[in-house]
Amino acid sequence: MAGRRDGLLTRSNGSPSRGTQIAMAVGIGILLGCLCVFLYPDGLFRSFCTSPSDDQDSAAWWSQANSAKCETSERTNGLKSELASLSEKNKELKEQVMELTTKLKVAEQGKDQAQKSSLTLREQQKAGPFGTVKSLGTNPTVIPDESDNDSIGRTGGNHAVSGLKFRILREFLQLGYSILLLDVDIIYLQNPFDHLYRDSEIGSMSDGHSNMTAYGCDDVFDEPSMGWPRYAHTMWIWVYNSGFFYIRPTVASIDLLDRVADRMAREPNSWDQAGFNEELFYPSRPGYSGLHDSRRTMDFYLFMNSKVLFKTVRKDAQLRRLKPVIVHVNYHPEKFSRMKAVVDLYANGKQDALDPFPDGSWS
Ligand SMILES: *[C@@H]1O[C@H](CO)[C@@H](O)[C@H](O)[C@H]1NC(C)=O
Ligand SMILES: *[C@@H]1O[C@H](CO)[C@@H](O)[C@H](O)[C@H]1NC(C)=O
Repeated sequence: MAGRRDGLLTRSNGSPSRGTQIAMAVGIGILLGCLCVFLYPDGLFRSFCTSPSDDQDSAAWWSQANSAKCETSERTNGLKSELASLSEKNKELKEQVMELTTKLKVAEQGKDQAQKSSLTLREQQKAGPFGTVKSLGTNPTVIPDESDNDSIGRTGGNHAVSGLKFRILREFLQLGYSILLLDVDIIYLQNPFDHLYRDSEIGSMSDGHSNMTAYGCDDVFDEPSMGWPRYAHTMWIWVYNSGFFYIRPTVASIDLLDRVADRMAREPNSWDQAGFNEELFYPSRPGYSGLHDSRRTMDFYLFMNSKVLFKTVRKDAQLRRLKPVIVHVNYHPEKFSRMKAVVDLYANGKQDALDPFPDGSWS
């Protein structure tokens, strides 16, 4: 903050810095001293406080003083005008100091706000005409911080362990890396890095199985007893799958992971995916400040969950020809056998590989 304040002082309207102000004040002091010496060669104290009634020769004093006055009257006038201009300058300086002090106060008051907003500060710009405006959508990437790169190894509390996944992720983000998090029940059929948009802070595969469930929809709530306003519109989306997501290193992302880790530590039996989604989607409300993460739902045919595959895709000749990037066997407990069947279908071309399996679980 000190550097910041200095910056403010020296940069505002080319006003003098504190050092320059001190030098000017000292200069004024010396000039005033010289002026006094000129005006009152016998010293200020004597000039003002000695009087004709003192024990020295009063007549001599008066004549001396008068002749000195005559001799130096021209000089005095010059110096007086100089003094006037100096005091004018002094006044200006004082005004500038006051102005700077006010600016400093305002800066101090805005410090907290500035600290917050500097995290997300971008060039301010005009909005532009209708139809041309596009928001950036993401917060800026953090500056890599390597000061805390191995603290996870030292934290050992049993409650903390349930949130450990998110705490480990956090450390990578803090170091400035983006992360693609993957569960182990995932089959890769293409390189996922070739299919990431990287435009949002969280890009996640969905637990949804259709456009409406995966990408969001207007679910109309009907209350006939209300009469004319019987329909209420609600926003609705199926949860993101916290077993496959891409997260960019921003302050908002770290905020998300910290919140989820904190929840998991406080409520060890809660489901991390529920916490992840609630933190990600609920807006700010009275008594709660929500997140500011931008989100992208991945294409649910490319980043496919096992419900989509077994309920829809395997029964549709056209969809079957699509090659997913990944298949996540998240919906089914018979993971290994279904994973092998998925490999048989997509990698080994065994068209009936999925046939033995029901849409849902065996029981
Ligand atoms: C991580 O921390 C250790 C110990 O604090 C240090 O020796 C190492 O250089 C650090 N690594 C990086 C990449 O900063
Ligand atoms: C689902 O959305 C995609 C693109 O978002 C669109 O191409 C497709 O037609 C939609 N399908 C249905 C059934 O609405």
